[in-house]
Amino acid sequence: MASSKTRRIAVANEKGGVGKTATILNLGAALSLKGHKVLIIDMDPQFNATLGLGIPSEEIALSVYDLVQAPGAHSARQAVLPTRWEGLELIASVPDLSGAEVELVAVTGRENRLKEGLADLDGAYDYILLDTPPSLSLLTVNVFAYASEVLVPCQTQPYAFGALSELFDTIGAIRRGINPALETSGVVATFYDQRTRVSNNTLAKLKSDPQYGPLLFDTVIRANTTVAESADAGKPVVFYRPGSYGAKDYIQLAEELAG
Ligand SMILES: Nc1ncnc2c1ncn2[C@@H]1O[C@H](COP(=O)(O)OP(=O)(O)O)[C@@H](O)[C@H]1O
Ligand SMILES: [Mg+2]
Repeated sequence: MASSKTRRIAVANEKGGVGKTATILNLGAALSLKGHKVLIIDMDPQFNATLGLGIPSEEIALSVYDLVQAPGAHSARQAVLPTRWEGLELIASVPDLSGAEVELVAVTGRENRLKEGLADLDGAYDYILLDTPPSLSLLTVNVFAYASEVLVPCQTQPYAFGALSELFDTIGAIRRGINPALETSGVVATFYDQRTRVSNNTLAKLKSDPQYGPLLFDTVIRANTTVAESADAGKPVVFYRPGSYGAKDYIQLAEELAG
């Protein structure tokens, strides 16, 4: 049921290991299960989302690197790879993408390279989910220039707030300079463990925070080793172990986001 209005959602947080890629894979898969047409774009040179969908590197004829490096030379549709699951597709990342950072520095309009490269995709998907590297790099700026909204995973661990405030400063700067229409879809708490005081404290602080509280999704993603296992197996957790907490949480997040 591809709609005319595609939601282009960047999943971002400058901190690594907070659940960005897990959210991309599992939210994407959960949305596709609900019948939405979903495209995942892997903009991290560490290509974890590509691996998490079980795509072997020899199947990647055209990657997001090609689209960013020479927009217009290739159609983005040619770079789209099917996955084993209906309604869930991928534009893959390759390690070369880290070179784009340096190559683009001297290019005029460098922050709009991804947007140009993806121009012919519009309308084909209900959701385009964009994974980002754990840094505020030119690649992330390209994602923010193209996205319609940002979804922020926040680990329920110490130091989570510092990363959030840096990210929201950046989103503000992007709105002022590059993409005034960029919205915030919300903050989702991840790695929640109800047995630990630190998890509970961080979640309580998020809820009561005047800036982040109103943005917080009701859905909380619990720490669940099945999520890590499924990434290792190259399958989103909703397909790998549908009854797991990880699968349930991400299905609930998909419902909340789509609702
Ligand atoms: N809810 C979760 N419970 C347990 N492990 C998780 C969960 N979410 C992610 N992981 C695992 O933690 C590691 C870091 O998560 P990841 O999504 O790759 O973070 P990021 O993309 O922000 O660097 C990965 O091995 C991932 O599979
Ligand atoms: Mg990642």
